Amino acid sequence: MLALLALCWQVLGVEALEDAVFDPLAYVDPLIGASNGGNVFAGASLPYGMAKAVADTNSSSNQGGFTLDGAFVTGFSGMHDSGTGGSPSLGNFPLFPFTNCPEGDINRCVFPKKSRAAHGGFANNTVTAKPGTFGITLNNGIRADMTTTWHTSLFRFTFPTLGSDGQPAQPLILQDLTDLSDSRQDNGSVTVDPETGRITGSARFLPSFGGGNFVLHFCTDFKGADVLDSGIFVNSRGSTEVKNLTISRSINGYPLPGGAFVRFSSGAEPILVRTANSFISAEQACKHAETEIPDYDFGRVSEAAIEKWREKMSIIKVSPAGVEGSLLTNFYSGIYRTMVNPQNYTGENPLWESSEPYFDSFYCIWDLFRSQIPFLIITDPAAVAEMVRSLIDTYRHTGWLPDCRMSLNKGYTQGGSNADNVLADAFIKGIKDGIDWEDGYAAVVKDAEVEPYDWCCEGRGGLDSWKALGYIPVQDFDYKGFGTMTRSISRTLEYAYNDFCISQIAHGLGRTADRDKYLASSSNWKNLFRPDQTSLWWNGTNTGFTGFFQPRYLNGTWAYQNPLNCSNLDTFSVCSLQNTGRETFESSIWEYNFSFVPHDQSTLLILLGGPSLFTSRLDYLHNTNITYIGNEPSFLTVFQYHYSARPALSALRSHSYIPSYFSPTPSGLPGNDDSGAMGSFVALSMMGLFPNPGQNVYLVTPPFFEQVNITSPVTGKVARVRNVNFDGGYKSVYIQSATLNGERYTKNWVDHSFFTEGKELVLVLGDGESDWGTGVGDLPPSLGEYVGFAGGNGTAVNDTSTITGWKRGLEEVVGRAWRGGYVGDVKV
Ligand SMILES: *[C@@H]1O[C@H](CO)[C@@H](O)[C@H](O)[C@H]1NC(C)=O
Ligand SMILES: *[C@@H]1O[C@H](CO)[C@@H](O)[C@H](O)[C@H]1NC(C)=O
Ligand SMILES: *[C@@H]1O[C@H](CO)[C@@H](O)[C@H](O)[C@H]1NC(C)=O
Ligand SMILES: *[C@@H]1O[C@H](CO)[C@@H](O)[C@H](O)[C@H]1NC(C)=O
Ligand SMILES: *[C@@H]1O[C@H](CO)[C@@H](O)[C@H](O)[C@H]1NC(C)=O
Ligand SMILES: *[C@@H]1O[C@H](CO)[C@@H](O)[C@H](O)[C@H]1NC(C)=O
Ligand SMILES: *[C@@H]1O[C@H](CO)[C@@H](O)[C@H](O)[C@H]1NC(C)=O
Ligand SMILES: *[C@@H]1O[C@H](CO)[C@@H](O)[C@H](O)[C@H]1NC(C)=O
Ligand SMILES: *[C@@H]1O[C@H](CO)[C@@H](O)[C@H](O)[C@H]1NC(C)=O
Ligand SMILES: *[C@@H]1O[C@H](CO)[C@@H](O)[C@H](O)[C@H]1NC(C)=O
Ligand SMILES: *[C@@H]1O[C@H](CO)[C@@H](O)[C@H](O)[C@H]1NC(C)=O
Ligand SMILES: *[C@@H]1O[C@H](CO)[C@@H](O)[C@H](O)[C@H]1NC(C)=O
Repeated sequence: MLALLALCWQVLGVEALEDAVFDPLAYVDPLIGASNGGNVFAGASLPYGMAKAVADTNSSSNQGGFTLDGAFVTGFSGMHDSGTGGSPSLGNFPLFPFTNCPEGDINRCVFPKKSRAAHGGFANNTVTAKPGTFGITLNNGIRADMTTTWHTSLFRFTFPTLGSDGQPAQPLILQDLTDLSDSRQDNGSVTVDPETGRITGSARFLPSFGGGNFVLHFCTDFKGADVLDSGIFVNSRGSTEVKNLTISRSINGYPLPGGAFVRFSSGAEPILVRTANSFISAEQACKHAETEIPDYDFGRVSEAAIEKWREKMSIIKVSPAGVEGSLLTNFYSGIYRTMVNPQNYTGENPLWESSEPYFDSFYCIWDLFRSQIPFLIITDPAAVAEMVRSLIDTYRHTGWLPDCRMSLNKGYTQGGSNADNVLADAFIKGIKDGIDWEDGYAAVVKDAEVEPYDWCCEGRGGLDSWKALGYIPVQDFDYKGFGTMTRSISRTLEYAYNDFCISQIAHGLGRTADRDKYLASSSNWKNLFRPDQTSLWWNGTNTGFTGFFQPRYLNGTWAYQNPLNCSNLDTFSVCSLQNTGRETFESSIWEYNFSFVPHDQSTLLILLGGPSLFTSRLDYLHNTNITYIGNEPSFLTVFQYHYSARPALSALRSHSYIPSYFSPTPSGLPGNDDSGAMGSFVALSMMGLFPNPGQNVYLVTPPFFEQVNITSPVTGKVARVRNVNFDGGYKSVYIQSATLNGERYTKNWVDHSFFTEGKELVLVLGDGESDWGTGVGDLPPSLGEYVGFAGGNGTAVNDTSTITGWKRGLEEVVGRAWRGGYVGDVKV
C-alpha cells in the first residue's frame, strides 16, 4: 500500500505535487479592511452565506461587526453585511458570555450592551480569521471560536477555570434583542425554555441604507454543560423567575436593553452555542439549526465551510514564483471578499411566494456593477445567474429592479438604474441558466420608460425632461416622480449608459427598433459636454485643460459647477445623497469626464482634443490626486489609457495603486470595501484583465504573476495568461508582443470567450513601452470612430497606424446598426 502510494507520487510528477500543495486559502486574510474604515466582515461565513458569525465591537466604524481599532467586543452575532457605508447593518441578537456572575448573583453579571463592553477587551494578536472560521480571546480569558452553515452559526466558548470572583466557572450566556445600529422597533420578544435552555425570539429592525423595516427571528441551543438556571433581563436587572419578555423600543432613542440568559453548572468543557436566523419564523430558524448542525461538531462544520471556500477559490491559480507573499495575500483576499456579499436568502424571503432564488445585500449595485459582478461572471457564473434571477423576480414582485437592497428592503439609488448594467453584462457574456430574459428585458425597459412616484429607491427620475431634452436639467421641473434633485450630471451620464446597456440586450433579443432607440439615447451624455469649459484650481491657477461636462437648465442655458468640486481634493462640497449635494455624485466632473462614457471613448477622445491630450489629462487626473481609488468611478480611469493607444500606461498606473493603496493589512483598504468592490478591483487588476461592464471587453495588462490560470466553471476549460520575461520587481511591465492560442495578437483587449473557450494569452514583457496594442485597429470597441490617431491633433505616441479617421470595418463588427457601430459582440 505504502509503496504503491510512493510510486503514484513519482508518476504524478513535480507539477502535480506543486498543484496539490498550492492552497489559495493559505493566502486569504479576512482581517484586511478590519480597521481604517474598510468596514469588511471579518468573520465566518459560507460563500454568499446568510449566517455570518463574528465578534461585534463598539467601534464607531463597526458596519461589518468586527474591528481591529482598539474598540471593545459587545457581543457575538450571526448576521452581517460587508464593506458597506450607511449605518451598521444587522448584527442582530448578539450573545455575550460571562465565566461567572460574582458571588453567583446574576445581577452582578452585566447585561446592557453599552456597559458589558467593558468586559469585551481583547488583544489583537488573539484574533484568528480564516475563510469559514473566526476566533478571539477576551482579556478575561474567554475564548470564542465560530463557524457557520447557510443559516446557522456555531459558537464555541471556552472558559477559564475560575471566574473573576475566584470561584469555579459557572458560565452565564446572554442573548439580547439589539442590533449594531440599535434600530430595534416595538415589541421585540424572547423566550427561554427552562428545561433545555433554548432561547427563541424575534424583533423588528431597520435596514441600514434604505427605507422600511424587517422582522428577524432566531433560535439558540446550547451543548456542553448542564443548564443551572435561566431567565430574562430588562436593562441591568434579570430574574430566573421570568422566562418570557416582550419589550418596546422605549422613548429614549435607544432600545431598552432586554433579552434572555442561560446559566450553566460548569465551565469545565467548552460550551457550544448553535444559533440560527430566519426571516420567516423562529420555528424555521430552529429547523435550520437542527438540520444544518444536528451534531454540534465544530470540527466537521468548520471543515465543511473551509472546503466550500477552497472549491470557490481554486477557480483561479496563479504562480507564486518570484513574487512576495503579500501580493498573493492581496490577490486571494480580494477574491475572497467578492463572495461574502450579496447573500443567498433563497427560501428565506417572507415578502412573496416564488420558486425563484432570492439574493439580498446588493449593497449597492452602483458599486457592484463595475467590477464585482463582472468578476463573478468569470469565476462563478452559476451564482450570478441566481442573482440575476433574483433581481428579475424582485422586479416581478415589487415592480422594479433594485439599485440597492439590504435586509429585505429597498436601498437608496445613487445614480442611474444600474441593475440594467448588471443584466446586460450577464446577458452579453452568455449567462443563461434559468433566466427569463424576456422578463429581464421588460424590467430594464421599465427603468427607461416609467418614472416611479418615488425614485429614491428604484428606477430613474426626470424622465419627461430626459425624453424631451436629452439630459437631466439642474433644477428640473418634475411633478410626476420625487427624489433628491441633485446629481443632474452624473444621473445624465448613468442614464445614458443604462440605455446603452438596454440596447445590448435588445440587440441580442432581436429587437432592432428598441436597440436603435436606446443606442440613440445612449449618446445623451454629449448634451452636457461644454467644449469651452475651463477648470481652475481654488487658487486661480488654470489646470490647462478645456472641455468639461457642465449642468444645464431646462431652457438649455448652461449652469456652472467647478469641475474640481467633489474631487478627492475638495473639502468644501457635500457630494452624497444630501439634498444640498452637487450635480455629480461622490466624484468630480473631472472624473466623470473620463470614466462615465464607457461605451464611446472614441468620441470622448475627439472631444478631449485627441489621444495625446486625452493621455496627458488622464495623467493629470491621477498625478494630482483629483481621482481617488477608494471610490468606484475611478476604476476605469486606471485602464483608460488603453483607449488612447497607451496600454503600457494602464499597467504602470495599476502598479501605482497596488499595493500602495491596497495592502494586505487591517488598515490596508482605501475606505469601505463596498461589499467586495475593492476586492474585485484588486483581483481583476492583478489578473491583468479589467472589464468594461456591459461590453464584451477585458482590457489586457500583464498580470502581477508569472502565470494565471482560470478554470471556466461553465466549460471546465482553463484560460491562461503567461508572462514571458516576468520580473517580480515589476520593471518589465511593458508588453512587447503577444500571442493568443499561439497566433500573433496585437489587440489590447480580449472578449469573454477567452475564459469560456480556455484560450492562452502569452505576453512577452520588456522594460520599455512598445507599439503593442497601439494601432487603431487594436483599440477596444467603441460606438464612435477613432480619429486623430496619426497626423491629427494629438498624435498618439507609439501608434503604428497611419490611417487618419479610421473607421472600423463592417466585417469586424457583428450587428453593426447604428452610427459608429454595435459594441456588443465584436469578433476577435
Ligand atoms: C490593535 O490594538 C490597538 C490598541 O488596542 C489599536 O489601536 C490598533 O489599531 C489595533 N489594530 C492593529 C491592526 O494594530
Ligand atoms: C467601548 O467600550 C469601552 C469599554 O467600556 C469604552 O471605554 C469605550 O468608550 C466604548 N467606545 C465607544 C465608541 O463607545
Ligand atoms: C406592541 O404591542 C402592543 C401591546 O400588545 C400593541 O398595542 C402594539 O400594537 C404592538 N405594536 C406593534 C408595532 O406591533
Ligand atoms: C412563554 O412563551 C412560550 C412560547 O411562546 C409559551 O409557550 C409560554 O406559555 C409562555 N409562558 C408564559 C408564562 O407566558
Ligand atoms: C496552468 O496550467 C498549465 C497547463 O495545464 C500548467 O502547466 C501550469 O502549471 C498551471 N499554472 C498554475 C499557476 O497553476
Ligand atoms: C442558494 O441557496 C439555495 C437554497 O439553499 C441553493 O439551492 C443554491 O445552490 C444557493 N446558491 C448559491 C450560489 O450558493
Ligand atoms: C495652485 O494650486 C495648484 C493645485 O494645488 C498647484 O499645483 C499650484 O502650484 C498652485 N498655484 C499657485 C500659484 O500657488
Ligand atoms: C435659463 O434659465 C436660467 C435659470 O433659471 C436663467 O438664469 C437663464 O437666464 C435662462 N436663460 C434664458 C436664455 O432664458
Ligand atoms: C466648489 O469649489 C469651490 C472652490 O472653487 C468652493 O469655493 C465651493 O464652496 C465649492 N462649491 C460647493 C457648492 O461646495
Ligand atoms: C488641437 O487642440 C487644441 C485644444 O483643443 C486646439 O486649441 C488646437 O487648435 C488644435 N490644433 C489643431 C492643429 O487642430
Ligand atoms: C497624492 O496622494 C498621495 C497619497 O496620499 C501622496 O503621497 C502624494 O504626494 C499626493 N500627490 C499630490 C500631487 O498631492
Ligand atoms: C514608445 O513610446 C515611448 C515613450 O514615448 C518611447 O520611449 C519608445 O521608444 C516608443 N517605442 C516605439 C517602438 O516607438
